[in-house]
Amino acid sequence: MTKMDIWTPGSWHTKPVSQMPTYADAKQLTEVEVRLAKLPPLVFAGEARNLKKRLAQVARGEAFLLQGGDCAESFAEFSANNIRDTFRIILQMAIVLIQGGGVPVVKVGRMAGQFAKPRSSDSETRDSKTLPSYRGDIVNSLDFTEDDREPDPERMLMVYNQSAATLNLLRAFVQGGYADLHRVHQWNLDFVEQSLQGSRYRELSNRIAETLDFMAACNITSETAPQLRETEFYTSHEALLLPYEQALTRIDSTTNDWYDVSAHMLWIGERTRQPDSAHVEFLRGVKNPIGLKCGPKITADDLMRLVEILNPDNEPGRLTLISRMGHDNVGRTLPPLLRALKKEGRMEAWCCDPMHGNTHASASGYKTRNFSDILAEVRGFFDACRAEGVPAGGVHLEMTGKEVTECIGGVSAVTDADLGDRYETHCDPRLNATQALELAFLIADYVKQGRKPVA
Ligand code: PEP
Ligand code: CO
Repeated sequence: MTKMDIWTPGSWHTKPVSQMPTYADAKQLTEVEVRLAKLPPLVFAGEARNLKKRLAQVARGEAFLLQGGDCAESFAEFSANNIRDTFRIILQMAIVLIQGGGVPVVKVGRMAGQFAKPRSSDSETRDSKTLPSYRGDIVNSLDFTEDDREPDPERMLMVYNQSAATLNLLRAFVQGGYADLHRVHQWNLDFVEQSLQGSRYRELSNRIAETLDFMAACNITSETAPQLRETEFYTSHEALLLPYEQALTRIDSTTNDWYDVSAHMLWIGERTRQPDSAHVEFLRGVKNPIGLKCGPKITADDLMRLVEILNPDNEPGRLTLISRMGHDNVGRTLPPLLRALKKEGRMEAWCCDPMHGNTHASASGYKTRNFSDILAEVRGFFDACRAEGVPAGGVHLEMTGKEVTECIGGVSAVTDADLGDRYETHCDPRLNATQALELAFLIADYVKQGRKPVA
């Protein structure tokens, strides 16, 4: 047996680890890990296997992945309304993609666990005072005082509880009638309704309502067809804070395999994807579907090494590659990767994160993204996939159901001067609900075109 074969939930400890906080009290950390390890799983392994089957369809070009939510969930923004609004905009976007793009949509939230953030620097200096960087509410607090920035292991338990409550509400929405297709009109949010996208959505929902009336006349209703009444919705986050992920990694009694039961899908971020890193080591051993962010510096050789480690059986649905190149790089950096993997007969799904390569500081000093850059990256992604004959599998977005002003542009025309109005993110700038819906309509057109053979 080679060294690489020996995997345990804690084998990542033997590898170089980055982006991890330094906890002052090791005993307190261990106590929290022991408590977490006794808590019930947040998801069931069978659900993760179902998602893997859906993602295998994505890899084969038979379905489209819509993954989205906050950059960072937070304790301050935790409320039923926020969860509902994000869930609702994802439902709306999915309807637009299904109807406009003509494909089944796999819905995955960056929700119920997306709390840990990688940072470009370990510390932050303001007015000659230097403190540890904010690493997400699972580690420390955004406020700039010594106490707030001290990493606190107890926060992992708070995240577990908030994630459990979030999942509970999501499961209620999924099964309790909120997601019933007959409510397609009601999903339109008031402020979106006023916009051009809102009226496009209303037209589309009118057509769906007519179809549902016709189906009812044929005796196909929410009572007779559960597919109309319920939906499937999955959770995901970056598996960054490894003590938390390890404590929630359990053997599934039905298969005897290890699953990280903190979410259905986990991904490895751009900053922690080195082939011998602790994060790659950790995720290679769990059977969940996993993701890997691929930025503009990754080479085809790096990527081949990573896919062989993370998906040694070349199993469709196991690994989703999330391209986040930047709009001005994607046309140059993505095609060689698509080509190299296709040549080797790899079955990984490809999807596009048009957010993380397109962040900049606005003239007024806010961290922002331009809607036009986001759209340009999506377009570049679809063009590259089509040219290489690889399915354009989906999108990965930072977005919220609220009408925040964090990204510039779109028909809602948020300007640099507007950014201060409702800039609420704890980390990166998110698309607001109107911008997200607009993007869904545009992506639906690309999906439809992408399904036609190249002329
Ligand atoms: C993220 O998804 O929030 C993130 C930090 O992305 P990346 O690892 O691609 O920079
Ligand atoms: Co982000």
